[in-house]
Amino acid sequence: MTELAFLLNGTPVRLSGVAPTRTLLQYLREDRGLCGTKEGCNEGDCGACTVVVSDEAGPRALNACILFLPQLQGKAVRTVEGLSGPEGQLHPVQQAMVDHHGSQCGFCTPGFCTSMAAAHAQGRQDHDVVLAGNLCRCTGYAPIIRAAEAAAAQPVPDWMQEAPPFILAQISSGPISENSGGEAPGAFHPETPDQLAEWYLENPDATLVAGATDVGLWVTKQLRALPKVAFLGGIPAMKRIETEGDMIRIGAGVSITDLRAAMAAPHPSFAAMLTRYASEQVRNAATIGGNIANGSPIGDGPPALIALGARLHLRQGAARREMALEDFFLEYRKQDRRPGEFVEAVTIPARAPGLKVYKLSKRFDQDISAVLGAFNLTVEGGVITAARIAFGGMAGTPKRARAMEAALMGQPFALAAFEAAKAACATDFAPLSDMRASAAYRLEAAGNMALRYWHEASGGAVNVLEVRA
Ligand SMILES: Cc1cc2nc3c(=O)[nH]c(=O)nc-3n(C[C@H](O)[C@H](O)[C@H](O)COP(=O)(O)OP(=O)(O)OC[C@H]3O[C@@H](n4cnc5c(N)ncnc54)[C@H](O)[C@@H]3O)c2cc1C
Ligand code: FES
Ligand code: FES
Repeated sequence: MTELAFLLNGTPVRLSGVAPTRTLLQYLREDRGLCGTKEGCNEGDCGACTVVVSDEAGPRALNACILFLPQLQGKAVRTVEGLSGPEGQLHPVQQAMVDHHGSQCGFCTPGFCTSMAAAHAQGRQDHDVVLAGNLCRCTGYAPIIRAAEAAAAQPVPDWMQEAPPFILAQISSGPISENSGGEAPGAFHPETPDQLAEWYLENPDATLVAGATDVGLWVTKQLRALPKVAFLGGIPAMKRIETEGDMIRIGAGVSITDLRAAMAAPHPSFAAMLTRYASEQVRNAATIGGNIANGSPIGDGPPALIALGARLHLRQGAARREMALEDFFLEYRKQDRRPGEFVEAVTIPARAPGLKVYKLSKRFDQDISAVLGAFNLTVEGGVITAARIAFGGMAGTPKRARAMEAALMGQPFALAAFEAAKAACATDFAPLSDMRASAAYRLEAAGNMALRYWHEASGGAVNVLEVRA
């Protein structure tokens, strides 16, 4: 791509020579003087840099600090400067923040307002979920939540309407052009899996960028240069979720937000866990393909998918292969991926009524798991006839708990079987101690998840929320 075009606060922008890894936050603050968008952590954690990005899927909140400029191709961006109307009228969320005293030092306020404006445009009422990725150190959250509740009753202002035909018409009209002054472009924008397959086979040393919630940090924190990059966000075929018979095929480019919505009916426990995956902004960007391909032992998606019996679909040029997801993870950060091969999709069963997914982290929201346990049991006539169990955070890879499964298989569905499964956990795993948890704690907590499964299925109270908005 030699030219990049998007709408910025309603005005078309064209850039040429864009460095593939220049972030939107750098561009806004350094090139445009739009300093309302703040830099807090520069790693997706604090929400101070939140902007509203609209495309054919509608508006959503994203963190500008880990969003590369080429990811904006054909989209519309609104920063806090673009929330108010042409006559300077405040957006309803801004007015409500004033009315309800939602701001003190003000550093976090632009990020809160943009998160709230995206949610307002979506008609959302789950304000605590929406705002879990925005940190405030002064105000406390109650006035901010009250402001979000008050604004929800107000209509979406006209100036916030950015339907896709409007975006494209605005972008393609007029000779507006700027030179970013960046280095020569090394970015490829495939529109189909075939184009990606062909290009990646010829450029196996390139970096694939999906949501950039991992890759973004390689650049902002590790200061890595990525000379050759393919952006996967423009491949509609990889963003589909399709039910094929009794299976669901999830494209690698499906965001965690879209996956969470699609899992609500067939796999509600999986969907509930995904509500605790990072934050709204990160879920809107992150893809399930990136979550699998990065091979993290503490990724939240893979254990749940392994427990479901997921099959992974890989593609290298014209060749495709398929494997059980657990077989993809060979050892710490080493996956069974060949040069030029990428994740195309993952398939899971449409039904697994016995699936429970438990995420354990130090904070309820926006935290990486210390342990994540996923249990998929089938009980017939009071006897456990099938058991698939997988954990994250317990080994160098997401891993099946075969000894725990064996302890349950064929046993009556009773506490004794789950106590045996807990005891078997030490056969499956020898976890490490790190800043998130000690080895002993991990082992104890993972075993207790088996007991939790039994208590939950028996109607016991197992879900303790210590912090509520
Ligand atoms: C603030 C924050 C909080 C987070 N919290 C969580 C959390 O709670 N739980 C969790 O699991 N993760 C969490 N993460 C990690 C991250 O969101 C996930 O790993 C995410 O799913 C990565 O997806 P992505 O699309 O952003 O991948 P990217 O960053 O674009 O890519 C990640 C890796 O996958 C490769 N890749 C991407 N797509 C493909 C493909 N189709 N085929 C082959 N390779 C591919 C890339 O080349 C790269 O190596 C968090 C990250 C941040 C910044
Ligand atoms: S600066 Fe903290 S999320 Fe972007
Ligand atoms: S008002 Fe100061 S950090 Fe939120």
